[in-house]
Amino acid sequence: MSAAPASAARTLRLRRPDDWHLHLRDGEQLGAVLPFTCARFARAIVMPNLQPPLTTTELALGYHRRICERLPAGAAFEPLMTVYLTDRTDPAEVDHAHESGRIFGFKLYPAGATTHSEAGVTDLRRIDRVLERMSEAGMVLQVHGETADPAVDVFEREARFIDEALAPLAQRHPRLRIVVEHITTRRAVQFVRAARPGIAATITPQHLLLDRNALFAGGIRPHHFCLPVLKTAADRAALIEAAVSGDARFFLGTDSAPHARRAKEAACGCAGIFSAHAAIELYAEAFESAGRLDALPGFASQFGADFYGLPRNSAEITLRREPWQVPDAYPFGADELVPLRAGQTVAWRIAS
Ligand code: DOR
Ligand code: ZN
Repeated sequence: MSAAPASAARTLRLRRPDDWHLHLRDGEQLGAVLPFTCARFARAIVMPNLQPPLTTTELALGYHRRICERLPAGAAFEPLMTVYLTDRTDPAEVDHAHESGRIFGFKLYPAGATTHSEAGVTDLRRIDRVLERMSEAGMVLQVHGETADPAVDVFEREARFIDEALAPLAQRHPRLRIVVEHITTRRAVQFVRAARPGIAATITPQHLLLDRNALFAGGIRPHHFCLPVLKTAADRAALIEAAVSGDARFFLGTDSAPHARRAKEAACGCAGIFSAHAAIELYAEAFESAGRLDALPGFASQFGADFYGLPRNSAEITLRREPWQVPDAYPFGADELVPLRAGQTVAWRIAS
């Protein structure tokens, strides 16, 4: 008997996935969003772009404690912490981070490239000694891959950063392990495919499901604005091809980035899309549309763990193909949060 085609599947059982790029915020906002991630993922690489940013191991460990205090009762979730690089990061910080056992990378924000990146790196040469130490320790560099030069077209910033900054950096540090976060372009896919060993990329649900037309569908759509910004349909096609290809250098990272409704629906709205409420379900939609649900387990539950040198999870989750309606908003401290697909349906749900 031949197996049913993947596109006809009604349920999908997979090893519990991990989110290799996540923003959790702090305080009440952290408490509001954390349960969504815990319900789906076993672990997440947690971004350090708080205000003030988590520029030391000590600060990242304090945040780890605050996250653990907010975990829902009985949740089996492990936050994997990161440290925020600045022009002045001390190379010795790499050793502290490594010894802590809780820090899994250093995040490079080019100064001015995105939300809370003002304290980021102004000139990559300034962190060469830190990167050398990271190479020795086997510590991962997570990169926000966009040039912060305001003269560069916003849709070109990723490609320009790769060609002018990232490719030379990867050559200068041939043993450095690098994750190009939230890739959005055909150029980024090509870069990762052609790169030396030790270079991988995460891909978000929004960049698999939407192109830049979604920013302007009938009017300006602030809840579709994130950085790097959505790109062309051709870029999206290249990302889907990479995600479903089974190439272990491409894996799941939601970049779920909650902002209060009033910070998004503003004359100068914040960048960030909240997707944690339906993250694995949205990836299942994207893979199903490509006819490649069979490729989801590798992308969601294996390749990231393998890259970070961590064990794959042993628990499982089951997804069921049963549409549900996403609420218009969720509570978010004193404000509210408009999720991706607000008021619309998602085709898959978590069954267990
Ligand atoms: O859209 C984004 N939101 N991109 C980022 O790089 C940061 C993030 C955030 O923290 O809101
Ligand atoms: Zn991010």
